[in-house]
Amino acid sequence: MQNKKMINLKLVLMSVLVCSAMFMSSCGNSNQNSVAVNSNTETAAKVNETTVVETVVEATKKQEEATTKTIEQTTEQVKETAAENVNEEGEMPTNEVLVAYFSATGTTKRVAEKIAELTGADLYEIVPANPYSSADLNWHDNNSRSTKEMDDPNVRPEIGSSDISLDQYNTIYLGYPIWWGDAPRIMATFVEKYNFDGKKVIPFCTSGGSGIGRSGSNLGNLAGSGSFANGERLNSSADTNNIQSFINNNK
Ligand SMILES: Cc1cc2nc3c(=O)[nH]c(=O)nc-3n(C[C@H](O)[C@H](O)[C@H](O)COP(=O)(O)O)c2cc1C
Repeated sequence: MQNKKMINLKLVLMSVLVCSAMFMSSCGNSNQNSVAVNSNTETAAKVNETTVVETVVEATKKQEEATTKTIEQTTEQVKETAAENVNEEGEMPTNEVLVAYFSATGTTKRVAEKIAELTGADLYEIVPANPYSSADLNWHDNNSRSTKEMDDPNVRPEIGSSDISLDQYNTIYLGYPIWWGDAPRIMATFVEKYNFDGKKVIPFCTSGGSGIGRSGSNLGNLAGSGSFANGERLNSSADTNNIQSFINNNK
């Protein structure tokens, strides 16, 4: 398609050059012929010469205008073709898939990396500004940080990783571990921070056994934009085949 466009452009340019050459040559001939035909009397020759000069000047002006217009149109076509080529050939970073994830102990991270590898997606890790210690993650302790956060649906732990622009992405895999049957509160921070308008969001989780439940749709409600799928739980030992099936199921 690109070659075809380039050939078309070359043809346009060649046509312009050929037309210009023909025109100039015809002007030259008409000039010579007119002078020859009207060489009998001086007055007639002068009148005719003036007419010829005026005609040539007028025609040259028109030809110049037409040539300028053609050059402008050709330049525009070249620009459009160049822009299309950039998209088709991926010369500019135009990845449309992102895997954004939070992982406290590395299980979700491993799955996220595999999804990115299989889909060619970019990766974005949601890193807490205040990292979770082992004590923070102790679900046997009613006073641990994670237990208290999950007890309060309004908690929004701060994200420490740099902001990301979601503009170029139209599909976003969103990964997290299940905490107390739900997504960790930092996932709420993430979905409330960004605009998912026009984007397809595919949640996935890892867990000790619980399913993804309503955690994905809960995040969709908090986001208030985008199309959130129900998503799937992936086993901590999910292999390439399992992860590929998940990707296929959610296309
Ligand atoms: C605070 C906390 C709460 C958890 N709650 C659940 C749970 O309700 N159901 C479950 O199956 N696993 C639960 N888990 C286990 C994690 O979901 C599981 O280990 C997950 O794969 C960890 O992912 P990560 O390594 O990416 O952080 C919990 C773990 C933590 C730290």
